[in-house]
Amino acid sequence: MKVLFTVFSASGNTLRVAKLFSERLSERGAECETVRIREDMAAPDVASADTLVIGYPVHGFNAPQNVADFAKGLPECENKVYYIIKTSGEPLHVNDASSRILDRILKKKGYIKRGEFHYVMPYNMIFRHSDDMAALMWQAARNTAPADADKIFAGEEAQLKAGLLAVMTRFVVAVEHKAMPYLGRLFKVKKEKCISCGKCAKLCPMLNIEMKDGLPVFGKNCIGCTACSFNCPADAISIGVLNGWRVNGAYKFAPPREGLTRKDVCNYWRGSYIRYFREHGIELNKE
Ligand SMILES: Cc1cc2nc3c(=O)[nH]c(=O)nc-3n(C[C@H](O)[C@H](O)[C@H](O)COP(=O)(O)O)c2cc1C
Repeated sequence: MKVLFTVFSASGNTLRVAKLFSERLSERGAECETVRIREDMAAPDVASADTLVIGYPVHGFNAPQNVADFAKGLPECENKVYYIIKTSGEPLHVNDASSRILDRILKKKGYIKRGEFHYVMPYNMIFRHSDDMAALMWQAARNTAPADADKIFAGEEAQLKAGLLAVMTRFVVAVEHKAMPYLGRLFKVKKEKCISCGKCAKLCPMLNIEMKDGLPVFGKNCIGCTACSFNCPADAISIGVLNGWRVNGAYKFAPPREGLTRKDVCNYWRGSYIRYFREHGIELNKE
């Protein structure tokens, strides 16, 4: 069985989770290949894969614009089976309809969706999750990804049902994609902090950053993924009107500390995170 993973990941979360899947599938004897979704990627060889997996982070309750565009560029492939692996910062069902546009595009090209897996990983925008939260999320993913990967191996159905609230929210917030090229023009570098390493330009999946005189210059093609500002080693990038939501620096993803309790879960949607952890094999005590 040949499985082709096509993954977009700005801060590495989706890629990490997709890797858990590919490791398990490889253990089972599947031949796995992973390609990153970027503007300069070579056309992936979808035709020779038995199963296609598309990985993406939820952006404004939708798949990111570049992932939808990637799907538009895929060849027609009658009856090609695909699965989706997505990550988001909050464990809310309002994220459940995020693949709608993607699914519509792929259906027209003859692809057949078999399932969708949703994992919660730390925010790369909005606020920084604590190291304890990141550790719990990562443990949750490690607990359940192997069983989910086995579903792909067996070609099992694993559909995610979206309620009306998710469908409506996705529709309304989709406007974010239209606004991002404009909001992206407000991204700026703090000259006094920039160390001219060029990491932002190298990591931008849209090739939207050019280094001029040692400083990044932002173009008109931003999708707001925050690969530049999240990964900047000097935290030198301000993301315009979104700056209050900027998160900088990789998470540690250590194993959870001994004795973590519900008190270590963030206040924001605490009940939903506790439920998510329980559903992914982590029972947290009250005290
Ligand atoms: C522009 C943008 C929009 C986002 N929108 C959502 C959202 O609607 N819901 C959510 O739970 N997380 C949202 N997030 C958080 C990411 O989905 C989450 O941190 C994800 O794991 C990042 O994965 P990556 O490292 O693979 O890019 C958003 C992040 C960005 C940058």
